[in-house]
Amino acid sequence: MRKQIAAANWKMNLTLQQAEQLLDNVISRPYNLTGHQQVVFAVPFPYLAMAQEKVKHLQHIFVAAQNCYSKKSGAYTGEVSVEMLQSLGIEFVVIGHSERREYFAESNKFLADKLDICLEYRITPIFCCGEPLNIREAGTQNEYVAKQLEDSLFHLDEEALQKIVIAYEPIWAIGTGKTATSAQAQEIQAYLRSVLASKYGSQVAENISILYGGSVKASNAKELFSQPDVDGGLVGGASLIADEFAAIINALK
Ligand code: 13P
Repeated sequence: MRKQIAAANWKMNLTLQQAEQLLDNVISRPYNLTGHQQVVFAVPFPYLAMAQEKVKHLQHIFVAAQNCYSKKSGAYTGEVSVEMLQSLGIEFVVIGHSERREYFAESNKFLADKLDICLEYRITPIFCCGEPLNIREAGTQNEYVAKQLEDSLFHLDEEALQKIVIAYEPIWAIGTGKTATSAQAQEIQAYLRSVLASKYGSQVAENISILYGGSVKASNAKELFSQPDVDGGLVGGASLIADEFAAIINALK
């Protein structure tokens, strides 16, 4: 079975003390995680070392950065390289979150470069895609999201593609309390898998985890994750509440 992943995206929230407390609370609980299940905490840059120290001996729990730069090193004040992340033992990085695309004008091409450097340093990118409300209302979400995949992923070969995790996050469902229904999530995620299959073959497409993000909570996680093409979630607001995120972890299939 392909990997099922509960990923917390803390975004720009929590002080160091609050972050430590939340992480301790969530990771100290007993979970029955099996080999195909993973938990990932995407934490702000200043907390990466702290979080990595706490999870490094835990088998199924990992830390992610929320972003990285596309260059190896050099005069890029304020940016963080994948080599730095690798040197901390970080194994995942979120790439192309809609907030980065929107507020920092990150293009599909720029994200393609970030994916390449992540893969070069053996860091798993969690590649985000998803349509804004006007596209959903026009009914052209499939074409919109397929183009995001084509522009950022389709230069990769089969082997490289299979090292990526995809997170489908409809922008109209992020932080709005408006979750896509499980049927909507399943429909578009099955479509995205078919887009991957048309380029790379169905065997490759079947290996790729596609997470759903957008107002995932303890109360809807089980239903969303039970869909055949929903391989877990990328969770914002609810990941800041220990009981909520613990229940989301327990909802993984
Ligand atoms: P919310 O879960 O707060 O809607 O955020 C989703 C998200 O953007 C995760 O990356």
